[in-house]
Amino acid sequence: METRSQWGTRLGFLLAAMGSAIGLGNIWRFPATAYENGGGAFFLPYLFALLTAGIPLLIMEYTIGHKYRSSSPRAFSKMSKGMEWMGWWQVLISFVISTYYPIIIAWAIMYAYFSLGQSWEGSENATAFFTGDFLNLADAGTFGSMVPNVLIPLIAVWAIALFFLGRGVKKGIEVANKIFIPTLAVVFLIIVIRAVTLDGALEGLNAFFEPNWETIMNGDVWVAAYGQIFFSLSIAFAIMITYSSYLPKKSDITNNAFITGFANSSFELLAGIGVFATIGFMASQTGQVVSEVYSGGGVGLAFMVFPEIISQMPMAGLFGFLFFASLVLAGLSSLISISETYIAAVQEKFSISRGKAVTLGGGLAALVSLAYANQGGLNLLDTVDYFINQYGVALAGLFEVVAIAWFAKSLKDLQNHANSVSDIKLGAWWRVCIGLITPIVLGYMMLQNLRTEVSRNYEGYPTDFLFNYGWLVAIGAMFIGALITIKKWPKKEVQSDVDDDEADKEVAQ
Ligand code: ALA
Repeated sequence: METRSQWGTRLGFLLAAMGSAIGLGNIWRFPATAYENGGGAFFLPYLFALLTAGIPLLIMEYTIGHKYRSSSPRAFSKMSKGMEWMGWWQVLISFVISTYYPIIIAWAIMYAYFSLGQSWEGSENATAFFTGDFLNLADAGTFGSMVPNVLIPLIAVWAIALFFLGRGVKKGIEVANKIFIPTLAVVFLIIVIRAVTLDGALEGLNAFFEPNWETIMNGDVWVAAYGQIFFSLSIAFAIMITYSSYLPKKSDITNNAFITGFANSSFELLAGIGVFATIGFMASQTGQVVSEVYSGGGVGLAFMVFPEIISQMPMAGLFGFLFFASLVLAGLSSLISISETYIAAVQEKFSISRGKAVTLGGGLAALVSLAYANQGGLNLLDTVDYFINQYGVALAGLFEVVAIAWFAKSLKDLQNHANSVSDIKLGAWWRVCIGLITPIVLGYMMLQNLRTEVSRNYEGYPTDFLFNYGWLVAIGAMFIGALITIKKWPKKEVQSDVDDDEADKEVAQ
């Protein structure tokens, strides 16, 4: 009897996959990465990475989930016994990401509120407000006391995420995405239309799109394009395997992957346009050039540069509120997908009900996330994020393609499976992308990263701090992953990632 949970509709699956892909990475990482890596010229390596790695890997992960109908570690172990640890490694990478990702959502909740009254205006500037009044930031390498400004919204973020996760695939995750993603699309369109109609918007867009073709020859730019594609498409996080394991047997895998990939990139492009049009406005107001207003991506852009700009705008409160609300919506749908990876895996490995897996997995992640809610949280988050992406996601992606293409030699088998259910048929190009192009680029990327690492301390943080919270966390995920494989899978396969009470009952029996 088929008891595994399933998405209610194809649209439900697509919205959930898009909800996972479209996240903080699209809104603040992409505009900054594109601008810093050649502007208009960045689109060439970006498109190359999307077509040779992003979409082919998405097709592969969808096929693995659909064929083996299990959480990521179980799916890998069914493919080839020795590969189970790779699944756990990816699940643990997701676990680590799920400990700091909600912190940024918590900040965004507070900033949506602050925007209404532009609370930062009483401070020297928005940066001083963020690091001082808001976070009360401690020196690098120290932690200090808890920050209630972060702790309280953090509890709210976990309550929302665990509520939907607890309700299961169809009644929880699918419903959440059906609410969050259309709302996000509307809110973001309003922001972008407002942004491009501001004075000076064109100047910002020119700076964003102006191609610097010399950068094309620089290996780092290609590395940045691949890194962006992996994080943004949620590849090598165990997410897409888990989500596609809930697809019904009759599902067009390849088409779904193309739709997810292009929707994610369209959203990224829209975010780039919105962000740089807004920066152009600021430049025209202050008589600066765009490069002077822009002071680096990520946290700085959203929480230090944007508040300054918002204050200059007509209807400032509303624009600020909508901008930070869109970060919250995009972040929540991604957080749900990141957490579902370990909930599904723990449930299958230990034969426990979904409720218990949500309480155990989600509860533990929520507990660990408290480590970032103190005065030193920002430095810790920055370090863990950097290391888990460079030596977690990207490295796990490299292992995944090499193991599947060269050791298990499963590409042909997966290709046949995808072709048996999809309209667009995969050819040899797909195997070349996964078996050859992607491993070469990711291998080169890894060497480049390691060379950079030995030449300096990331962001100048103390060496022991980087060792404990960067290297140990990234390497620890790999080793703990291997340890978990010592425990055998239960004899009777628990197909109960329950959203329905029936499957829950089945576990109880
Ligand atoms: N794909 C998610 C993001 O872009 C993780 O934030």
